[in-house]
Amino acid sequence: MAVSDGEFDPRAFRNTLGQFCTGVVIATGCVDGEPAGFAAQSFSAVSLDPPLVLLCPAKTSTSWPKLRDSGSFCINILSAGQKAVCDVFAQSGIDKFAALSWQAGATGSPVLDGMLAYVDCDLEAEHDAGDHTVVLGRVRDMKILDPAGSPLLFFRGAYGRFNGLEG
Ligand SMILES: Cc1cc2nc3c(=O)[nH]c(=O)nc-3n(C[C@H](O)[C@H](O)[C@H](O)COP(=O)(O)O)c2cc1C
Repeated sequence: MAVSDGEFDPRAFRNTLGQFCTGVVIATGCVDGEPAGFAAQSFSAVSLDPPLVLLCPAKTSTSWPKLRDSGSFCINILSAGQKAVCDVFAQSGIDKFAALSWQAGATGSPVLDGMLAYVDCDLEAEHDAGDHTVVLGRVRDMKILDPAGSPLLFFRGAYGRFNGLEG
C-alpha cells in the first residue's frame, strides 16, 4: 500500500509495524520520592560511544513528564512471566508500584524486581516526533539480573515467549 496524503490507513500502519517483534520494557523514574513509570516497546540501543539508548514516549503519557523532570530514567526489561506487571504499567492514573518491590538505581530511578536486566540512564536529549517524543538516554549503569531468563515478547499485538535459538 502506498502511503500518500488521503490514503494513509492507521490500522494498516499498526498491522505492518506489528510484524516487527520486540521485547517490552518498563521505563521508570522518581520525582520527590514518588516513583513513576510506563510500559513501552519503543526501546532500542543507539550508540556504543557514547553509550546511548532511545525510548519514544507518547505525548499523552502522564508518567514521561515526571521522568523528564527527574533528569533520568531506568529501562527495566521484562521477563517472560511478567505480563501482569506489563498490564499494570500500561494503565494511567493508578498506583502502579503498590504491589511491586523495587530499589533505587544509580540515577535514583526504580529498578524493579524480577526483571531480565536494567539500563539506567541520564536524559541526554529529546526530539519532537509527531505524536511521540524521541528520547535519548546516556547509560550510567546497567546489569543483567537473570542471565538464564527469557524475555516477554510483543508481536502482532499479542504477547509471547521466546522458543529458543535456532542452529
Ligand atoms: C506492549 C505495549 C507497548 C507500549 N509501548 C509504548 C511506547 O513505546 N510508548 C508509549 O508512550 N506508550 C507505550 N505503551 C502504552 C503505555 O504503556 C500506556 O499508554 C500507559 O497508560 C501510559 O501510562 P502513563 O500515562 O502513566 O505514562 C505501550 C503499551 C503496551 C501494552
